[in-house]
Amino acid sequence: MSCQSPIVVALDFPTMAQSIEMAKRLDPKLCRVKVGKELFTTAGPVILDELHNLGFDIFLDLKFHDIPNTVANAVSVAAKAGVWMVNVHASGGRRMMEASANALQQLPDQNTLLIAVTVLTSMDQSDLLEVGIDLTPEQHVKRLASLAKSSGMDGVVCSAQESAMLSSELGKDFVLVTPGIRPVGSAQGDQKRIMTPAQAMAAGSHYLVMGRPITQADDPIAVLTQSNQDLGVAI
Ligand code: C5P
Repeated sequence: MSCQSPIVVALDFPTMAQSIEMAKRLDPKLCRVKVGKELFTTAGPVILDELHNLGFDIFLDLKFHDIPNTVANAVSVAAKAGVWMVNVHASGGRRMMEASANALQQLPDQNTLLIAVTVLTSMDQSDLLEVGIDLTPEQHVKRLASLAKSSGMDGVVCSAQESAMLSSELGKDFVLVTPGIRPVGSAQGDQKRIMTPAQAMAAGSHYLVMGRPITQADDPIAVLTQSNQDLGVAI
C-alpha cells in the first residue's frame, strides 16, 4: 500500500550514511523522502536502491534543465530507477517539458510524477530583472505554471503562499508540491514565507516538503507523527 501521508522528508545530508541513518528513524508508512543534489552527487544512484529497500517512495529533486533530448533521457532514467516523483525547470521551455512527458509515456507501467519548478523562492523581483524578466515573481510563477500544465507536467513545486492561486487557476488535480513548511512552534530557519502543514493543505497543496523541522528534531518520528495527526491522516 502506498503512503497515505502528504509529507515528504527532505534528506538534506552531506553523506549517504547520515541520510540512511535518518531514513531508518523514519517510517515509509508515515512519509516519503526527497533526495536532492547534494546527497545524490555524493552518494550516486545507489542511494535510490538503499531507500527503496527501506520501503520509501522517493522524490528525486534534481531540477533538470538542459536541451530537450538530454532532460527527456534523464527523466526516463529516473523513472526506470523507480522514483515516485522527479522534477525539471519550467524555464527550460515547452519543448523540454513535452519531450520529458513523452519519454515517460513511452515507458511501460510507469507512474512517476513529473513536476516542474517555476521560480526559485530564493529569487526576488530584482533577481528576475537581472536575468531579463520584467515581471513580479507571482506573475512569472503563474506564467510558468500554466506553461508547465499545457506542456504535460503533472504539477509544480511552489510556495504554499501560491497554492490557493495556482489551485484556482489550474485546477485541483494539478499537483502542488510545497516546501517552506513549519509545524507550530518549530524554528523558521532561513525560510522566509512559511505555513503550517494544515494551512498549506487547506490552501490547496498536495504534498508538503519538510526538512529540518523533522531531520534536526531530537525525536524525528514524534514530529512526523504529530504532523500527520494534525493533518488527520489515517495511518
Ligand atoms: O529544512 P527545510 O524544511 O527548509 O527544507 C526544505 C527543502 O525544500 C530543502 O530541501 C530545500 O532545498 C527545498 N526547497 C525549498 N524551497 C524551494 C524549493 C525547494 O526550500 N523553493
